Amino acid sequence: KYNAQAASALREKPLYQDDEYADVDWDNLGFGLTPADYMYVMKCSKDGEFTQGELSRFGNIQLSPSAGVLNYGQAIYEGTKAYRKENGKLHLFRPDHNAVRMQLGAERMLMPSPSVHQFVDAVKQTAFANKRWVPPSGKGSLYIRPLLMGSGPVLGLGPSPEYTFIVYASPVGNYFKEGIAALNLYVEEEYVRAAPGGAGGVKSITNYAPVLKALSRAKSRGFSDVLYLDSVKKKYLEEASSCNVFVIKGRTISTPATNGTILEGITRKSVMEIASDQGYEVVEKAVHVDEVMDADEVFCTGTAVGVAPVGTITYQDKRVTYETGDESVCQKLRSVLVGIQTGSIEDTKGWVTCI
Ligand code: COI
Repeated sequence: KYNAQAASALREKPLYQDDEYADVDWDNLGFGLTPADYMYVMKCSKDGEFTQGELSRFGNIQLSPSAGVLNYGQAIYEGTKAYRKENGKLHLFRPDHNAVRMQLGAERMLMPSPSVHQFVDAVKQTAFANKRWVPPSGKGSLYIRPLLMGSGPVLGLGPSPEYTFIVYASPVGNYFKEGIAALNLYVEEEYVRAAPGGAGGVKSITNYAPVLKALSRAKSRGFSDVLYLDSVKKKYLEEASSCNVFVIKGRTISTPATNGTILEGITRKSVMEIASDQGYEVVEKAVHVDEVMDADEVFCTGTAVGVAPVGTITYQDKRVTYETGDESVCQKLRSVLVGIQTGSIEDTKGWVTCI
């Protein structure tokens, strides 16, 4: 159980030496949970104010069986990453954007949220306390998961009387088992991910369990992920289960416009900026599935996923193959983004925050 006194004692007596690495097989990191030593916990008082949070050892938390999060799914989460530069210094990629996105999500889910300063400070403290879990430069990153939940008890449907903000972390490598190889996606026509007026545009936990059925069906057929279509016409691209999607034709790069059903990815907007800096025409619009099937390249973006090339898409009885490889536009955009994130390319945009 979280205990403030124990947390203070732990801060005074660190578990490890400054230059020590955790015992992890850095060359074989996937995207599974390898919990780092510490998590950050901050409670929200009844008047909606978040009080000072604290680090404690990573571990189970106690919740009432009638907690709002468990019964009515009142929770949102974020994902951000800490990287180790070649000189050993650690940094974060645009954590302030995660903070703002959490505030927007909290507003949609009728929850109080930490201030941008509280959020970024919590992420920095978590990354710093777990620095031995940040992979060596070039081997992956420390995935940091801020989670805001209705932790107080409810029975009738209503907002939770108490909220808890937790930040935990795990070292990760590539999200997909394909590694950096191209993905094979399946266009899902039976299930939809989100509907207009719903919560598809925010990182509500309620957006994720409902995709599991289509995702596991597609995986059992050999696909990497599912592409969802809009819920009304079932003709326009939305996103994959875990990431946004882009379509390239000539020098035009299109991505589904965010209209409340599509998550406003931070990697998505960073890649859009990099692409326009490189002279591509970047368009946010309704992307028809026929356009996808006629594209030169398709790729996915997300914090967990990074920038992932798509090799094939299967829609109805048709399978299309796209350009991939070192000379692809996707690869060029990816190398700039990864370069900024890992510190091998100078950050002229102010996207990187040192810890
Ligand atoms: C992320 O990219 O950070 C996400 O939250 C996606 C999740 C399915 C791992």
